[in-house]
Amino acid sequence: MEKIKVLRNLRLSERIYLLELPKKGSLLDIKPGQFLKIKLHDLRYDPLFPRPFTVHSLEEGTLKILYQVVGRGTLALSRISQGEEISVLGPLGRPYPEDLDFPLALCAGGVGVAGFGFFLERLKEELRKKTILYYGAKTSQDLVRLDYFKAFGIEIKLTTEDGTLGEKGFVTDLLERDMRDGKIKTILSCGPMPMLKVVKELSEKYGIKTYLSLETFMACGTGFCKGCVIKKKDGGYFHLCEDGPTLSAWEVIL
Ligand SMILES: Cc1cc2nc3c(=O)[nH]c(=O)nc-3n(C[C@H](O)[C@H](O)[C@H](O)COP(=O)(O)OP(=O)(O)OC[C@H]3O[C@@H](n4cnc5c(N)ncnc54)[C@H](O)[C@@H]3O)c2cc1C
Ligand code: FES
Repeated sequence: MEKIKVLRNLRLSERIYLLELPKKGSLLDIKPGQFLKIKLHDLRYDPLFPRPFTVHSLEEGTLKILYQVVGRGTLALSRISQGEEISVLGPLGRPYPEDLDFPLALCAGGVGVAGFGFFLERLKEELRKKTILYYGAKTSQDLVRLDYFKAFGIEIKLTTEDGTLGEKGFVTDLLERDMRDGKIKTILSCGPMPMLKVVKELSEKYGIKTYLSLETFMACGTGFCKGCVIKKKDGGYFHLCEDGPTLSAWEVIL
C-alpha cells in the first residue's frame, strides 16, 4: 500500500463527497474501470479492511474519487481532512472491456456514475459524440458533477425519482425507450443492484451487448480470500476483484 496525503475532501451533497489525491506512483498506471482500495491509518477509524473505490477522474495532476457515505468506512473517510495521510492499494481489477460498439449508453444510478468520468476523459473525441450518459438518482441533490460531465460534450439524459431534475422516474425507463428505438449498440452500467438487475433484463430482452460494473464486499481485493463471488450463468463463480469488477450481463446471475 502506498501512503498518500489527501489534497482535498469536498462535500458535494448530503452524502456524496469528492476525494482528491495527488497523481503519483502506481496510481499513474490505472486504467478506466479499475479500482483502488483505500485504508485509513488512524485506528480511531475502526474499519479493518480497506474499502474499494473506482477512479472518478485522473487529470491535471489529481486523482479523484467520488464516493457516498453508506457505513463506517465511508463515514470515516468523509471526516478525513486536507494533509492527512491515507493508504492506497492499486490498480486492482480489470479495465472496462474494449469491445464496445457505438452508440454507447453509459447508464448510471447515483454514485455509480463515478467511473464514467475517467472513462470519458480517455475516450476519443469522435467516440464521445456517439456516447449518451443516462444518469438517474432519487433526487436532484444526488445528481452531482453535472458541469464536469457536460464539458465532455456528450448527450446527457437525467432522471430523478421525485421529479426534481430531469425526467421523473427511473433511469432504466429512459434507457429502455432508446433501446426499443434501436439507438444503442452497447451498454455500460453501474449503480445499485436493483437497477443493474433491470439493465440485465433489458439487455436480454433487446439483445444489446451489456456490461455491468458490479460491487461485492471485498476483503483482500487481490484474489486471496475468495469472498467476492458472483455466480456464473454456466456454473461456477467469478471473483469480482480479479475477473471484474465489470462483467458481461449475459454471463452472470444476479
Ligand atoms: C470495485 C468497487 C468499486 C467501488 N467504487 C465506489 C465508488 O467509486 N464510490 C462509492 O461511493 N462506492 C464505491 N464502491 C462501494 C464502496 O466500496 C462501499 O460503499 C464501501 O465499501 C462501504 O463501506 P462502509 O464501511 O462505509 O460500509 P459498511 O459498513 O461496509 O456497510 C454499511 C452498510 O452499507 C451497506 N452498503 C455497503 N456498500 C454499499 C453500497 N455500495 N451501496 C449501498 N449500501 C451499501 C451495507 O450493506 C451495510 O448495510 C465500490 C465497490 C466496489 C466493489
Ligand atoms: S476480495 Fe478477496 S478474492 Fe476478491
